[in-house]
Amino acid sequence: MSKHGATKRTTTAQLQAMKGVRPIVSLTAYTTPMARLLDEHCDMLLVGDSLGMVLYGLPSTVAVTMEMMIAHGQAVMRGVTSACVIVDLPFGSYQESREQAFRSAARIMAETGCDGVKLEGGAEMAETVAFLTARGVPVCGHVGLMPQQVNTTGGYRSLGRSDKEADKIRNDAQAIADAGAFAIVVEGTIEPLAREITAAIAAPTIGIGASPACDGQVLVCDDMLGLFNDFKPRFVKHFAELAPLVSQAAAAYAEEVKARTFPGPEHTFQPKK
Ligand code: KIV
Repeated sequence: MSKHGATKRTTTAQLQAMKGVRPIVSLTAYTTPMARLLDEHCDMLLVGDSLGMVLYGLPSTVAVTMEMMIAHGQAVMRGVTSACVIVDLPFGSYQESREQAFRSAARIMAETGCDGVKLEGGAEMAETVAFLTARGVPVCGHVGLMPQQVNTTGGYRSLGRSDKEADKIRNDAQAIADAGAFAIVVEGTIEPLAREITAAIAAPTIGIGASPACDGQVLVCDDMLGLFNDFKPRFVKHFAELAPLVSQAAAAYAEEVKARTFPGPEHTFQPKK
């Protein structure tokens, strides 16, 4: 059973209808085993292009490819029975034209079976969002801090403190919502602006570093599990500390292998008597 009482996955329409009812719960997922663990707890699983940094050690999301997104989208779909699965359109797969965006989105949806796509961008992407939505592709927008634009915006920092920045994010969110996005990720913005946008637009806002004023929250799963302990942005909370556990387990394994205490008799096959 899904969180909505049906035996199928949560739809983008159901996510949209959750605005004003209860907060949307979302995490990223990139693999089948993790999707299996997260599925029952999340309304939406996002196969984010953050996988480029989290899984592949890339310096940003810019080099992530369609092939990576499709492979991980397929992996997540194998682990999910109830959450809505949204796959990121990678950098360069949708910005050129609305037709290019449709081809990329249609390929991702057909090859993964996911429920919709996410794309980054504000007013300049509104026409594309309307084009995709009118042709059967549910679109989640992404405004505020847009990691795919890090090379032109100059880094990862929270936005919206100046009137100029706030006006742009406000207009971006309104344009993407008016174009038909079923939800909008709002990343790295100050609380009053997130609250204002959430009140102004019809689509639910899903915040990451954008305060509790949003209609839902998303975090990178590996961040919230404490799998990275070298850098922790202010907006991340570690709900577990898995990095030291992994390290301790690897150390214990290495010790037992070197001491020849692993594998023990209980892990060893013997000829039949
Ligand atoms: O790529 C990603 O994981 C994302 C979320 C952080 C919102 O876009």
